[in-house]
Amino acid sequence: MVDYCQCVFFTQFMKQELYKKAITVLDANFQEGGFTIPSAGLYPFQWKWDSGFIALGFAHYDVEKAKTEMRTLLDAQWGNGFIPHIVFHTDNDSYFPGADFHQSELHPLSSKKYRSTGMTQPPVSGFVLQEMYRIAADKEDMLKYIKEHIDKVFYNHVYFYENRDPQDEGLVYIYHNWESGTDNSPVWDDIWKTMNPPEYTFVRKDTTHVDASQRPTKREYDHYLYIIDIAKQHNYDDVKIAELSPFLVQDPLFNAMLIKSNQALIELYELIGGNEDKIKTLLQWQSKSIASFNEKLFDAELGAYVHYDLRNEKAIRHITSSSFSPLFANIPSPERAKVLVKTMMDKFGGADKYLCASFDPTSDRFNPKKYWRGPVWINMNWMLFLGLKNYGFADVAARMKHDSIELIEKYGFYEYFDCRKDTGEENTPGYGGNNFSWSAALFIDLVNTD
Ligand code: SER
Repeated sequence: MVDYCQCVFFTQFMKQELYKKAITVLDANFQEGGFTIPSAGLYPFQWKWDSGFIALGFAHYDVEKAKTEMRTLLDAQWGNGFIPHIVFHTDNDSYFPGADFHQSELHPLSSKKYRSTGMTQPPVSGFVLQEMYRIAADKEDMLKYIKEHIDKVFYNHVYFYENRDPQDEGLVYIYHNWESGTDNSPVWDDIWKTMNPPEYTFVRKDTTHVDASQRPTKREYDHYLYIIDIAKQHNYDDVKIAELSPFLVQDPLFNAMLIKSNQALIELYELIGGNEDKIKTLLQWQSKSIASFNEKLFDAELGAYVHYDLRNEKAIRHITSSSFSPLFANIPSPERAKVLVKTMMDKFGGADKYLCASFDPTSDRFNPKKYWRGPVWINMNWMLFLGLKNYGFADVAARMKHDSIELIEKYGFYEYFDCRKDTGEENTPGYGGNNFSWSAALFIDLVNTD
């Protein structure tokens, strides 16, 4: 018979070992250039939203690395405030499409110091700086650091509102699925149907690192490359992109993260003092963005927020984990939050599943193994956990946290995980890249957060 005390001791011991392993993963992925790769082989550069989540992990045990990570990312900012989705710090050729395909130098205001992509990723930097402040033991020192960097984040938001909101709604668009972070979500299938890109000839690198069944298809990549080609033909000019890109979407996740970061900037500027003009601008953005978000992106029939296809002027009516992300940014009213959580639990929350699948498990487009077409992602769970907690859904929040930790305990620091508790297979691994930085970083933050 197993002694209960021994079990508790064993569980705590395992958690401590896993915590140490998380630190090992992050430290091993940290590079000499002052940035952290998401995963060796598969993702050998610096990615914008990964960097933010990674900095949060570092903040718990190596504050200098956290500061360096964000400093390096912000150093790659363009003259117009834009922050790119990938910063190509090295000539590593194990990733496609690399710097030579993207050609960021086409844009007159692109960084002269770093080559990058000409697209962005969700605006994490604002709320990451705030989280770094929350975690910091030496608040004075961290506030000094934030004071030195916060304006770059503010000007990044100015870029979004000035260049990505053609109808002046307070909702910004993304022009590429890679800007969403949710790369091959079934949501984009509706847009691919409106396009007919050429068949490109290229050598995929991702499928040499990861099983092809877990990655986007060749035909999906044709669409991805074609959108970039159009932007390149116009030197990544925002006005031309808004006019011509076949992909122009108001994404609830992207906009929720922008709103969350706006709020973080307001609170940080208040702590710093002064900056009344910037606070005023941020408050104006907030009231307009939150009102439009609730009015335009909520689908009462589905009981969830959805994406809006700005190019074809119609809602894309699918439920994804992004549909619940407004909880993280305090966007829904308490009544609407209840509706959202009911939808989440009815469709995604069965006892046979881990929270939270990235796509509606009741849809025929759901695929539990393929990238963003169904698997669980730790960064989404982290945001949903905080959002649920904030609205007082303590039980669901606790389950979100518990499921995230259990997936990592069982399978390791993978990029994504099957949401099915029983896959019918003997050994279900995690999917995508292993020793994945944000899974390690957010594990560290989750176990440190009640
Ligand atoms: N995550 C993308 C990829 O799979 C790019 O951001 O390459």
